[in-house]
Amino acid sequence: MEKSRKQFVDLVDKAVEAAKSMRRDELLFSYKGILYPTTVCSPETFKALESFEARSDDVILAGYPKSGTNWLSQILTDLIAISQKKTPGSESSVHAEVSEEFPYLEVGDAEKYERMTKLPSRRFMVTHLRPENLPKSIFKNNAKILLLIRNPKDVATSFYHFCNGLATLPSYETWDEFFTDFMTKKMAWGCYLEYLSEWNKYADKENIMTITYEEVKENRALSVKNIATFFGIPLTEEQLQLVVERSSFQSMKKNSDKTHGSFGNILFRKGGVSDWKNLFTEDQSEKMDKAFEEHIAGTKLGKKLKYDLYCKA
Ligand code: A3P
Repeated sequence: MEKSRKQFVDLVDKAVEAAKSMRRDELLFSYKGILYPTTVCSPETFKALESFEARSDDVILAGYPKSGTNWLSQILTDLIAISQKKTPGSESSVHAEVSEEFPYLEVGDAEKYERMTKLPSRRFMVTHLRPENLPKSIFKNNAKILLLIRNPKDVATSFYHFCNGLATLPSYETWDEFFTDFMTKKMAWGCYLEYLSEWNKYADKENIMTITYEEVKENRALSVKNIATFFGIPLTEEQLQLVVERSSFQSMKKNSDKTHGSFGNILFRKGGVSDWKNLFTEDQSEKMDKAFEEHIAGTKLGKKLKYDLYCKA
């Protein structure tokens, strides 16, 4: 039976409750030039994060909001559970330890990093941060990072619906207003195209594996296999099938009451490719094409995104 992630659900519920009494302009704050949600991040936590000591066997997932981080989080925690001879999703699985801390590295109180020193290996963490804002020890100690990227038009589309569903982020009356903010760097966790170009500087590093939302969607079994190999986790055919089945959109949505509480209804929206076609005007589409060209096209990450296939067709 799917294990309930009480800590995760409680933190989100608390943040939503706090946001309800805040003005729209109070929901985000700026730290080192990037906006973050006030209800879940703080300057004190960012300061404390600088001294976080990564371990070489930490399993780190990096991805901009809405690129499928909750999806890949489950795949990774299932793989860690298997490596520890536990049953994915069960009470005894890795969630039991990991759920002691909210999995997003930069989310929570400033003391969480001290508590994390006591967690057994392999620790799992997710982050929406740009690489230059991550603790230096992650790169120094060669912790492995799975970098998840998604086509920018679907990221914007998913983010728009998320902002309007979740009280902790500023909501938008129209898609046009959201699009303007998305393109002018007014999003929580910063501008996606800048995020991509910053991460592109790290794309050749041996301890980083890049994967796209679209390729996981295309072939989940192959993606899970490749991820397991990258993190050095051997899998039987049966274990592979279990992780693949548990990570289908339908199955995650069905379990979301346990894994994500009411937040699950907002998070597991469509889970597909090309929903941007329902929102983007021709003019907006061209603006994104131009910005993509300027920021990232032609680079390693730019090519990996297969922009023409997913954002132009
Ligand atoms: P949509 O809003 O396009 O549906 P994140 O977890 O980083 O916030 O990303 C959320 C996006 O990932 C949402 O996209 C969500 O539906 C999608 N997603 C979550 N689980 C998924 C799954 N198992 N398969 C495909 N997409 C999934």
